Amino acid sequence: MYNEKIMDHFMHPRNVGEIEDADGVGEVGNPQCGDIMKIYLTIEDDVIVDVKFKTFGCAAAIATSSMATELVKGKTIDEALKITNKAVAEALDGLPPIKMHCSVLAEQAIKAAIEDYRDKRDNKR
Ligand code: FES
Repeated sequence: MYNEKIMDHFMHPRNVGEIEDADGVGEVGNPQCGDIMKIYLTIEDDVIVDVKFKTFGCAAAIATSSMATELVKGKTIDEALKITNKAVAEALDGLPPIKMHCSVLAEQAIKAAIEDYRDKRDNKR
């Protein structure tokens, strides 16, 4: 069911963990299955310099979370906001169609974490 790239990111997920004092934290749940992803961002001058995640979910959710963290690292927040679940799935050489909903978690968690960062930053002013 899963290609080699997905299996690699599932078996050896990149950037797993938490960041203490993260600049932005996003947590989202998948309404279709109840799985959860939490993402932590360290942001300097609007550039994502570090990212970690924790996902309680299926293989596709973990693989897409892992790939999404790789895609956003080093990007500006505006660039990261443009990353879609489709782009994450493509970077993994495609997901089985019935697993596409799993990739939505990563996109939404990144967006939520960036929103959290912006809220915190704006409240500091
Ligand atoms: Fe829940 Fe994949 S089945 S995220």
